[in-house]
Amino acid sequence: MAAVKHQTMILVVSKLLLFLAALLPLGFIVTDVLAGRIGPDPGQAITERLGLAAFQFLLLTLVVTPLRQITGWSGWLRLRRMLGLFVFFYACLHILAFLQLLVGWGDLWATFTQRPYIIAGASAFLLMVPLAATSTKAMMKRVGRGWKPLHRLIYPAAVLVWVHFLWQARSDITEMVIYGSVLFVLLLLRVYWFGLTTLIPLRRR
Ligand code: HEM
Repeated sequence: MAAVKHQTMILVVSKLLLFLAALLPLGFIVTDVLAGRIGPDPGQAITERLGLAAFQFLLLTLVVTPLRQITGWSGWLRLRRMLGLFVFFYACLHILAFLQLLVGWGDLWATFTQRPYIIAGASAFLLMVPLAATSTKAMMKRVGRGWKPLHRLIYPAAVLVWVHFLWQARSDITEMVIYGSVLFVLLLLRVYWFGLTTLIPLRRR
């Protein structure tokens, strides 16, 4: 009984710390804007930093399973939902910043369909919408056995975000290669533990 209480306590504290930590990228952006430290092109910098935060949280959600496998603590899985929702939160802010600060709200169809790297980003975002929409406990119950295969959409979404990241690069792609390698290793670990089919979304096993 005491052990269960202790585990619950660890989980509650971890969730609280994670929540506060996940707000830090936004906090740093806001303080940099207020202090005038955001650089010569604030709209561009804000959009890029929000996009990077979204991608970093996406990679963190993919770190959860390896952490569970290595440490054996299933509590990691309970933190994953919050991480996933922060991916969506930062992705939404990234797109809002792009519209509000860079291109404006006119002719949205053209905005989202003319440049290949935007098409990749928008496709990744569209794949994330059903994941965010089915993240509540009630929705998990409703979707039932289809929940896990549906949530494997995160893999093509992650690859599309990386393509989006790589494609928008102007010259130096070192950063993109590093992020791509991390993503590759995270996907490879899944294949090693659960087989190649684990990466196929929407397929019931
Ligand atoms: C409709 C969807 C999206 C649009 C319109 C969009 C737009 C943009 C734009 C305009 C940039 C800056 C490009 C430049 O520097 O010239 C960018 C960069 C980026 N975006 Fe997106 N994006 C979308 C979706 C996403 C999503 C879903 C993610 C991640 C989950 C994401 C992550 C990134 C990253 C990591 C960068 C690079 C930031 C950097 O250079 O540090 N984007 N995006």
